[in-house]
Amino acid sequence: MNTGLLAIGLTTLDINAYPIDGLTHTERAILIQGLACAPAGTAAGAALVAAKLGAKVRLVGAVGDDMNGLFVRTGLESLGVDTSLLATRVGERTSSTLLAVESNGRRSSFHCPGTGGAPPVDATVTAAARGSRFVHYAAIGGSTTDGGPGAQLLREAKAGGALVTCDLIGPRRSAIDEIAKILPHVDYFMPSAAEAFFLSGSDDLSTAAQRFIELGAKACVIKNGRQGAFVLLGGQAHVVPAFAVTPVDTTSCGDSFCAGFIAALDRGWAPLEACRFAGMTAGLVAEGVGTLGALQDFKATVAAMDRYELAIEPA
Ligand SMILES: Nc1ncnc2c1ncn2[C@@H]1O[C@H](COP(=O)(O)OP(=O)(O)OP(=O)(O)O)[C@@H](O)[C@H]1O
Ligand SMILES: [Mg+2]
Repeated sequence: MNTGLLAIGLTTLDINAYPIDGLTHTERAILIQGLACAPAGTAAGAALVAAKLGAKVRLVGAVGDDMNGLFVRTGLESLGVDTSLLATRVGERTSSTLLAVESNGRRSSFHCPGTGGAPPVDATVTAAARGSRFVHYAAIGGSTTDGGPGAQLLREAKAGGALVTCDLIGPRRSAIDEIAKILPHVDYFMPSAAEAFFLSGSDDLSTAAQRFIELGAKACVIKNGRQGAFVLLGGQAHVVPAFAVTPVDTTSCGDSFCAGFIAALDRGWAPLEACRFAGMTAGLVAEGVGTLGALQDFKATVAAMDRYELAIEPA
């Protein structure tokens, strides 16, 4: 029987500091409330959060042979993520981002590019995808995956019986060609609202979701910040409200929403209930600094769903 989650794609190190209100030029040290270093990126961030929620997770990605890469690997392993498919590229840098989060939640990012967008795709990865229960594909735009290998990997994953989810990170307009190749193999396409609007050319969630279904996705879950998630499933539209959390740092909310969704499906939850759980996962991540924020575990997240009000009235 297929088991576990295989996450493939962007792998980075995030360093989040809160609050940084205007970059100052004093020589003195300024005390801040929180500073978190953690594995991040659409694939590694989702992998870390899914593992925190108790899922069995393998990550397919790449780091450099620098100290940042070592930190990413050991950080993932500390929560039980299987890193045997995480490549270390000699002489390359680990993709790393410094995020200065203002007390009003806005953030400035300083990104140092590296090898994080180039996961390995080979026979071992293909075999792993065929044997997984879930494949989370976060590799659109990757140099090793675009133009055929990614679509072929997902074809194999589907042939093996996996359920495929797909998320994006800051796609260019040209990504639509690759998305058209990938979506026929995707069960749940999970872009953010900004990405959905940008790629579909529509400013209407329903029209955007419909466009992705026409391109081949079986269902579409559009993440829409405090508004929650717009879900198009079996031809029916639903709005799943977010929870009224007190956000500190919303970095990686999208990645953790995907992780929560998969972790709940893995425990047999129905898709809309899994979206509610995903919203609580992302909400708890937003209540602290960095990839994990204030998230604890699956049980505590379920308990929080009863404790928090909804951020918006259900439709
Ligand atoms: N201010 C907020 N209050 C409550 N929930 C939030 C808030 N911001 C985000 N969320 C939750 O997180 C989910 C994902 O957030 P968002 O829509 O910002 O995704 P994203 O743009 O993909 O994020 P990322 O920057 O991590 O890629 C939302 O659907 C919602 O459930
Ligand atoms: Mg996102």
